[in-house]
Amino acid sequence: MPSLGTPGRRVAIVAGVRTPFARAGTAFKDMTAIELGKRCVAELIQRTNLDGDLVEAIVYGTVVPSVVAPNIAREISLMPMLPRGCEAYTVGRACASANQAITDAADQIVLGHHDVVIAGGAESLSSVPILHSRTMSEKLVTFSRAKSPAQQLRVLSSVRPKDFVPITPAIAEPSTGETMGQSADKMAKINHIPRDEQDHFALRSHRMAAIGTDDGRLAAEIVPVYVPPKYSTVLTTDNGIRRDTSIEQMRALKPAFDKKYGTVTAGNSSPLTDGASAVLLMSEERAQILGYPPLAFIRSYAYAALDPGEQLLMGPVLAAPVALARAGLTLRDMDLIEMHEAFAAQVLCNLLGFESRQWAERAGFNEPLGEVDRSILNVMGGSIAIGHPFGATGGRILTTLANELARRGGTFGLMTVCAAGGMGHAMVIERA
Ligand SMILES: CC(C)(COP(=O)(O)OP(=O)(O)OC[C@H]1O[C@@H](n2cnc3c(N)ncnc32)[C@H](O)[C@@H]1OP(=O)(O)O)[C@@H](O)C(=O)NCCC(=O)NCCS
Repeated sequence: MPSLGTPGRRVAIVAGVRTPFARAGTAFKDMTAIELGKRCVAELIQRTNLDGDLVEAIVYGTVVPSVVAPNIAREISLMPMLPRGCEAYTVGRACASANQAITDAADQIVLGHHDVVIAGGAESLSSVPILHSRTMSEKLVTFSRAKSPAQQLRVLSSVRPKDFVPITPAIAEPSTGETMGQSADKMAKINHIPRDEQDHFALRSHRMAAIGTDDGRLAAEIVPVYVPPKYSTVLTTDNGIRRDTSIEQMRALKPAFDKKYGTVTAGNSSPLTDGASAVLLMSEERAQILGYPPLAFIRSYAYAALDPGEQLLMGPVLAAPVALARAGLTLRDMDLIEMHEAFAAQVLCNLLGFESRQWAERAGFNEPLGEVDRSILNVMGGSIAIGHPFGATGGRILTTLANELARRGGTFGLMTVCAAGGMGHAMVIERA
């Protein structure tokens, strides 16, 4: 299978940054996704000492876009340090939206359309749009078109209390009505993943993230953000990492979704989060000319999908073998693996899927990928502890994977992300 850029141009990952990830309703509750994205992209340009005029495109992901400014990428590209001619567009692929932005940007570079692109994503789950009911929307439109006070009064007098009941976006599949949490519970049951195993995995996420923060590896990837409205405090690290949690505390938590038989809790799920990420991508040639040593190169990627009513979050199990085959590599060649942790149950199910012949055959292969060496998996924790701003997570994971691979002197890294709609993403990066 052809890998990305073979025999064409290679895509260099030059640098990546992100905001701290903050639990929804906390530090960033007064910031929009656009503001978070701008802060992140501005810092990426400053940290890399990049001449903004060189940026040809911004590709950005978000899952719950602003109703008034849906093309978040364009709003970001209109920052003063970027040229007006920097084209920009926004992509959506649920929790893999930043990944979609990154692979779109990479494709543009491989095609030779661009040489310098910033890709990433942002999400504010503190400020999701709340919609009026259809009846209320119609009444509001009729009111705005009314030609006389009498007509206006007639519309107003038709408004009933139930018209005010809002429609809030749910983290549920439109096709099945099942929430992500319910899907994770279902997957845990099908694959016999005990609660204790999930809690231990979640605890590990917090422990590893705390270590990665304290020793500066994660902190180095984070843009400090002054917190509005007073701007008198600054957030420099993720505020969802629980240093004080223990297996006893995790065990005491009640199931969050299937209240009676479920094993998925607030402790072993990723929390609702606000944040942004951005990655600077260049053609290998341009990076060399400009004197930027690449952190790594994108070797291959893949997307896959399965029926959302089946095992919603198994997409990575179908995407990873394809990405590895396109890279001409195996799981054993990987020096580091980063898996998005939507839920501990999902990661543990995905890991079992990697070992399963049945899942391998579904992905079109005879042999399973094999067992993941846990010592190279999510070595600085993952979304359970760090948080998961849907549209931003892919940029965080790629940045961490590339930085840590470079630090360890490794050669190959694999990342996977599961996403709503039964979709999955996998990417292989390489150094050298
Ligand atoms: C699981 C979920 C419903 C929990 O929401 P929540 O109840 O608001 O979560 P909280 O953070 O308030 O946690 C609930 C309680 O558990 C406690 N808790 C959570 N994690 C804990 C931990 N690791 N250790 C100890 N206590 C913990 C909290 O302190 C809180 O206790 P309190 O009620 O005494 O304050 C929510 O995070 C969610 O929907 N997550 C999944 C998001 C999703 O679907 N993402 C898509 C994935 S791709």
